[in-house]
Formats: sequence, C-alpha cells, structure tokens
Amino acid sequence: MNRQNVFALTRDRQSARPHLGIVLLSARELDKMRQVGRLAARLLQHLEPMVQPGVSTQMLNDEAERWTKAHGATSAQLGYTPAGHPPFPRSICTSVNEVVCHGIPSAKQILKEGDIINIDVTPLLDGYHGDTSRTFFVGKPSPAAQKLVEVTETCMMRGIAEIKPGARVGDIGAAIQEYAEAHGFSVVREMVGHGVGREFHTEPQIPHYGMRGTGVKLRAGMVFTVEPMINQGVKDLTFLPDLWTVITQDKKLSAQFEHTVVVTETGVEILTLP
Ligand code: MF3
Ligand code: CO
Ligand code: CO
Repeated sequence: MNRQNVFALTRDRQSARPHLGIVLLSARELDKMRQVGRLAARLLQHLEPMVQPGVSTQMLNDEAERWTKAHGATSAQLGYTPAGHPPFPRSICTSVNEVVCHGIPSAKQILKEGDIINIDVTPLLDGYHGDTSRTFFVGKPSPAAQKLVEVTETCMMRGIAEIKPGARVGDIGAAIQEYAEAHGFSVVREMVGHGVGREFHTEPQIPHYGMRGTGVKLRAGMVFTVEPMINQGVKDLTFLPDLWTVITQDKKLSAQFEHTVVVTETGVEILTLP
C-alpha cells in the first residue's frame, strides 16, 4: 500500500489521536480473520508448484482466480481502486525481479530460470480480508538472489517477533531495518504494512524502518500486516506509467514477504499460515 494514500485518508485523525480509527477485533471477528488468513496462505501453497520456467504470470492469475472462487471467496485486488490509481486489473500481484510490488499479471510475461517472483494474494471471505505474499524462486536462484530472499523473509519474521501488547510500531520497523542493513540491503520507505480486516487498507501504518520506542502503542486485538520490501541496491523507487507497477530505481532485485497478524494478550498470532 502506498504510504501517501493511506496518509491522505487518515492524516487528520492520526496526528491528533493516534488510536482513533484503529479497530480492535472481537473473538467472533478474529475467527473470520483466521478463516480468510488460512485460505490466503493455502492459495499461495496451491500456486507454488506452478512457479516454473515457461509459465506466464497470467496463468498464475487465472489459476488463483479459479481456486479463490472455488473456495467461496473473491479477490479483493481485482478492481481495487485507491485514490490516484486506476482499478487494479487482475486478481493477484506478481512482482518479478526488479519489480518491488503491484506487478500486473500478463500473458506476455513468461517466467524464466533464475527469476524471483513475489505473489501477493488477498482473498475476501465473508466480509474479511486475508493479505499475504511470498517470494518464490523460478528454478535455481543465483547465490545473490537466494541471499536477498532469505534475508527478506527473516526481516519479516524478526519484525513480527517484536509484536506484543505495549510494544510500539517503531519496534517492528527498527528490527527489520537493522537486519536488512546489516546484510547490505536497503528498506523501501514508500510502501508500508497496514491495518486489515473488514477494510483492505486502514490504520495503523506499519513502516518497515524506524526507531524503537516510537510510534503507536500495540494493543491486543489490533490486526495488521507486516510486509517488508527489501532491495539489493538503492532503496529508491520508480513508479511505472501504468500507475501500479513499482520498480527499483537501479533495476536491481527486490524481494517481499507478507503476513497478516493479530496482537494477542501475550504476543502475536500469525493469521496467514496454512
Ligand atoms: N496486497 C497488497 C498489499 O499488501 C495490495 C495490492 S493492491 C492491488 O497491501 F490492487 F495492487 F492488488
Ligand atoms: Co499483500
Ligand atoms: Co498488505
């Protein structure tokens, strides 16, 4: 999600009253989130064996759409139209190599040996969103690509490990930034994690960089994503004229992992596990 857009929606309320607009989910709502979260994770699991040289990103999209419908859900991404964007034209995002996020599946884009591809899915089931993504290897990765992808997944898990009541949003970003930069990689600033539930993108924003002890205090029942985008080279981005696709300015690789999580009384629960 684009930081600027969330910000435009929430700026006034957020600056004055940091907790206003952050939804705490009830036990009943959490059960719905668990169901759609599991469905999202299983969709990625279902698509994984298709990620092979010669497959188009459109084929991944079409299978995701078929499977999602067969499981009684719809894609929240298809037709999604945040401020400043045209409707997203596909059911999943497929972000290959230097594409940071929001890559649009296309029949013309054929996966080849050595590519990395992030697949980001957001099924909508019974009024609730489950948002998750993983970066997959197409065939055998180069050692450099493998390192980037492994570090990115660990960044996400280290960020999630900070989560418990009383911790701060800045603790999550700090843990991610420290680990990424210790490996010589950079952290994307413009796109952030986000509250999710009945709405696809809501408060709070979860930057993947920052300072410990700063930002909104976490409370049990908050549901949001942690979805770091980590770059091999510079952190800077270029936005393509299709008004969706985001790439690295230096065209070096970018990887991303995403889970939807809930703050529990004792810590954190990952909702997007199979
Ligand atoms: N799933 C993405 C996220 O993690 C948002 C994709 S919006 C789309 O926030 F329209 F590009 F699909
Ligand atoms: Co997502
Ligand atoms: Co998300």
